[in-house]
Amino acid sequence: MIHMRDLLLIGCGKMGGAMLSGWRRAAVADRYLVVEPNTDVPRLSGVYPVTDFDSLPPDTRPGVVVLAVKPQVMDEVIYPYRSFAKSSTVFLSIAAGKPVDYFLDRLGAGARVVRAMPNTPAAIAKGVSVLFAGPGVTPEQKALCSGLLSAVGAVEWLEDEDLIDVVTAVSGGGPAYVFLLIEALAKAGEAAGLPADIAMRLARGTVIGAGALAEQSREAADELRQNVTSPGGTTAAALAELMDGDALTELLTRAVAAAAARSRELAG
Ligand SMILES: NC(=O)c1ccc[n+]([C@@H]2O[C@H](COP(=O)([O-])OP(=O)(O)OC[C@H]3O[C@@H](n4cnc5c(N)ncnc54)[C@H](OP(=O)(O)O)[C@@H]3O)[C@@H](O)[C@H]2O)c1
Repeated sequence: MIHMRDLLLIGCGKMGGAMLSGWRRAAVADRYLVVEPNTDVPRLSGVYPVTDFDSLPPDTRPGVVVLAVKPQVMDEVIYPYRSFAKSSTVFLSIAAGKPVDYFLDRLGAGARVVRAMPNTPAAIAKGVSVLFAGPGVTPEQKALCSGLLSAVGAVEWLEDEDLIDVVTAVSGGGPAYVFLLIEALAKAGEAAGLPADIAMRLARGTVIGAGALAEQSREAADELRQNVTSPGGTTAAALAELMDGDALTELLTRAVAAAAARSRELAG
């Protein structure tokens, strides 16, 4: 159970807002100080929204500063927060493509920085976040960051920051690949004669149901697949096409490699 007096959230858009809801449910702080230029931050108990750094209460002493603004505005936003860069405060960034060194350059070499890559299902507390700790981050600060991201889904840690590009390609973009699967399955159903609206509802419902089954079952993915595949049956006929020459795996391997390469380009 984590708890701190002040949690400072910079940027309360889609991700910041989703995390704030989870933190309030888990009561992780006494005060949630939220810096957000939009004035529609919910006025909820414990939440203190301000529109800029200068409007923060003078007694602000955050245990964690969560950076949840878009990467392209980070340079305009970050400098004033340097004043919080003490060893007792950890900066948790969820900005895509911004490495730990970027933050150390701007906050000072002694800043404690954790970088996280969440994904969009975090908006409904079903995300997967992968974290990497920069120099000097203590086990307690790592636990704090795990706790904060757990509020929006599952959490994994990496020891090698370079692998964040691969994470971006697998779980960061992964929801888009699953949505494409829905589109493709619906189109295939339509091509085989189903009305378009029914094909889309079947495809969408199937992905939702299969995801929920994968979540609740203890069985591995290949066992779940084999459970719906009788030898010589209809699913086996379809899988023979999808798995011929490892077709789907090959395609996803190329897709992940392309996304990881693009992530490296954008970071560089
Ligand atoms: N969405 C995702 O699924 C996802 C997944 C992985 C990582 N991320 C990362 O999460 C971060 C936030 O993404 P998002 O989708 O939540 O973006 P978003 O909805 O645009 O939220 C960012 C918020 O920050 C506000 N902001 C702009 N300038 C600010 C300032 N100076 N001080 C405080 N707040 C400021 C924005 O206000 P305005 O709208 O007025 O500019 C906006 O409300 C990004 O770095 C992104 O890379 C997002």
